[in-house]
Amino acid sequence: MVIEAFEKVKELETAIHNSNINNKEELEAFRIQFLGTKNCIKPLFAAIRDIPNDRKKEYGQLINAVKQQAEQKFEASAQQLLSKAANDVDVPDLTAPAESLELGSRHPVSLVLNQMIEIFDRLGFTIAEDSEIEDDWHNFTALNTPEDHPARDMQDTYYILNDPSRLLRTHTSSVQSHVMMNQEPPIRIIAPGRVYRNETISSRAHCQFHQVEGLYIAEKVSFADLRQTIYYFAKEMFGATKIRLRPSFFPFTEPSAEVDVWWGCDSEADKRITKGTGWLEILGCGMVDPAVLKNCGIDTEKYSGFAFGMGVERIAMLKYQIDDIRLLFENDVRFLKQFDKTAIF
Ligand code: PHE
Repeated sequence: MVIEAFEKVKELETAIHNSNINNKEELEAFRIQFLGTKNCIKPLFAAIRDIPNDRKKEYGQLINAVKQQAEQKFEASAQQLLSKAANDVDVPDLTAPAESLELGSRHPVSLVLNQMIEIFDRLGFTIAEDSEIEDDWHNFTALNTPEDHPARDMQDTYYILNDPSRLLRTHTSSVQSHVMMNQEPPIRIIAPGRVYRNETISSRAHCQFHQVEGLYIAEKVSFADLRQTIYYFAKEMFGATKIRLRPSFFPFTEPSAEVDVWWGCDSEADKRITKGTGWLEILGCGMVDPAVLKNCGIDTEKYSGFAFGMGVERIAMLKYQIDDIRLLFENDVRFLKQFDKTAIF
């Protein structure tokens, strides 16, 4: 009887020693078996009353030691599993090929703008830029459009709150005022940039859009130079074979003209786009009014010049057959995805 009890303790000791604890589940099973409320060591403690007195002490020490072994094994295994989990954090395979990134596409306005810049660059035009918040003088007065001039109504203006002398530029002609003030001719610049007008938003009009305006001032610049420059642009941009100039009015140019490119009138689509005429209006232009040159301190005896201006969205809509200008400002990915991903401009 006594021997049997001692043997049971030994067996338990071996069982503890031989337990394999390799994961959380095995650790929990070990805990339940040896340390839980119904653990298998408990009955051995109870058995102490059957041990003869002279061996009770020895027996007690033995099962206490076994219990301690179980506790130590549990603690050590728990620690081991914890540090193993910390080491097992996924280390990425640094030699694996990278996942391919989805390429975005250029915005159609950027595509067209860059193409325009590139065409005029070939003719020697450099880029000039200035602020979108402008003063009244550079946007209007310098350009022969003094206060109360009816032409100001052509460009409904956003003024800065509490400061009527400052506004959001209505055209990038304001950049031309700055350049003329600061630079001696010859001047050959284009001014690309965003402009603002207080227009009701519709499929044809927006309160913000982009322009490219050009200015060429030198000795003996003629209307023929203007026409030829515009023709080159129309040919490169649209593959146009002919252009026509219609008399028009701008306060800062005299004479002024509006330019149409020959689009063609063959298909139903051509007829729709050109309203049956075969012609498409693309820009406004003219010879810089000497009053403008004077305002900006340029010698009108010596120099003359031409200027032109066009809307980038309008050109993009014609080129890509987009029938609603709002699409160009909404940034709907389904729309933007259709434009050339590989375009380098
Ligand atoms: N500034 C004019 C506009 O915004 C365009 C233009 C520029 C016309 C230069 C003639 C000459 O409508």
